[in-house]
Amino acid sequence: MDGVPVSARAAGRGSHPPDDLAPTGDAATELVPLGGDAALMASAARALFESFRDAHPDAWPTPESAAREVEECVEAPNVCVALVVDGVLAGWGGLRPMYERTWELHPLVVDAAFRGRGYGRALLEGLEAEGRKLGLSGIALGSDDEDGSTSLGRPGLGGPGFLDELRALRNLKGHPYSFYERCGYAVVGGIPDANGPGKPDIWLWKGLGPSPGR
Ligand SMILES: CC(C)(COP(=O)(O)OP(=O)(O)OC[C@H]1O[C@@H](n2cnc3c(N)ncnc32)[C@H](O)[C@@H]1OP(=O)(O)O)[C@@H](O)C(=O)NCCC(=O)NCCS
Repeated sequence: MDGVPVSARAAGRGSHPPDDLAPTGDAATELVPLGGDAALMASAARALFESFRDAHPDAWPTPESAAREVEECVEAPNVCVALVVDGVLAGWGGLRPMYERTWELHPLVVDAAFRGRGYGRALLEGLEAEGRKLGLSGIALGSDDEDGSTSLGRPGLGGPGFLDELRALRNLKGHPYSFYERCGYAVVGGIPDANGPGKPDIWLWKGLGPSPGR
């Protein structure tokens, strides 16, 4: 994959950028493969570590563990892309095999300084384009709730009533499942207590075909 400019749709969306960054519309923005560029990979590891440190402290507890994750994500057959804005890594994401025709989104990170400007959506669109090239029928992901930021983030929700709770899912404080919904992903399941009591994993999916279903 060569570097490609980010779609015009992504430019200029979302809230205002921090003062020290160029406005999105003026920035030179491109999607590039992450593997093989040591500086970009170091930035990716830093963004991963810092982005998950508070809400998911056990995910990548040290900068070294985040660097190892980046190394794994760029290995074949995984797909891994970085979004570069004026030469700086704004975010990155990857796909890895899960089922034969449906791969897992893992991970997706936009550096805190770049959030709210459509870059997360642009990364997803770039990965979806890569998925189509691979002939995938869909992308799936799990989005953990480890800090009670959804209505599912409380103990005692396992068992037969879980599906009803899932249908009534509410976002209590900025959980990213709503970001995925805005980008066309649907909540299709969940694992109660996936990461301990009251810490579920919420499953989302998007079809990549012409008619992704209802
Ligand atoms: C989740 C994340 C990737 C979103 O990136 P972003 O660049 O800020 O998102 P975008 O600006 O592209 O937002 C796209 C849309 O989603 C909405 N959105 C973004 N984050 C949201 C949230 N937490 N809750 C609700 N809506 C959200 C935006 O308002 C925008 O809406 P629009 O359709 O009206 O334009 C980013 O916040 C992040 O990296 N977070 C830390 C790591 C993380 O949680 N990764 C996902 C783990 S599963």
